Amino acid sequence: MPALSVALLNLKPGTGKTTSAVWLAHIFAQAGRTVLLVDADPSGSALEWSDLAAMDPGLPPRMAFPFRMVALPSRSLHQRVAEIAHPEDVVIIDAPQLEDHAGIARSAMRYVDEILIPCAPSPIEINRTTPVRDEINEVEAFRGGPARASVLLNRCIARAHSTTSAREVLEGLGYDVLRTAVPRREVYAQSFGVPIPEIGRDVWRGVAHDLIERCVPLGKVPS
Ligand SMILES: Nc1ncnc2c1ncn2[C@@H]1O[C@H](COP(=O)(O)OP(=O)(O)O)[C@@H](O)[C@H]1O
Ligand SMILES: [Mg+2]
Repeated sequence: MPALSVALLNLKPGTGKTTSAVWLAHIFAQAGRTVLLVDADPSGSALEWSDLAAMDPGLPPRMAFPFRMVALPSRSLHQRVAEIAHPEDVVIIDAPQLEDHAGIARSAMRYVDEILIPCAPSPIEINRTTPVRDEINEVEAFRGGPARASVLLNRCIARAHSTTSAREVLEGLGYDVLRTAVPRREVYAQSFGVPIPEIGRDVWRGVAHDLIERCVPLGKVPS
């Protein structure tokens, strides 16, 4: 079993799965963890991002994405990742949208410690989390226990009330919502295909911290 495994998952494309997976992978690697980034989306965007970033002339070869990466758009992902992940790894899975690739997405849900649902603070995206939650419940039977799941508020408008109210609505629906909300920022919107810059990492450090905190068994939270 790896140290931590997280799948970025949602019903639709365009909610920030790949962006979140790639930034988080960099944050964990920079913090000294060994990372395995799994591109489970048949569109292969995370892999394409890494290929493009590797061509950056400003960086030595293989330094743009300084961790292991594998493309596994497979319904047997849960078995394949278990074979290749090392015990000390943080495994991040960029899962495909459930509506088109349910078999692969379910396989990712079977494997991971935490299912992370990136969601904009808008009524339409909040509504679309319901089918994801139904799937999470369905997959429980194959996991031999409930999956930990949380919502990552993403593409939040600075100083708008929508983030607070989305959090309230989601918590009212029974979701855990990560404390850190990711703002809508140009640095994230423009990051595809290039090495991850230093600017903008702080927010993702907050997200990584929230994820790790959720791993600490109850009663062992440092005071
Ligand atoms: N926090 C953010 N701020 C600004 N743009 C974002 C943010 N998160 C994602 N995006 C942009 O939204 C679009 C969809 O994100 P992406 O990660 O590709 O979604 P998915 O993998 O779910 O299809 C991309 O253009 C991406 O750059
Ligand atoms: Mg994607």
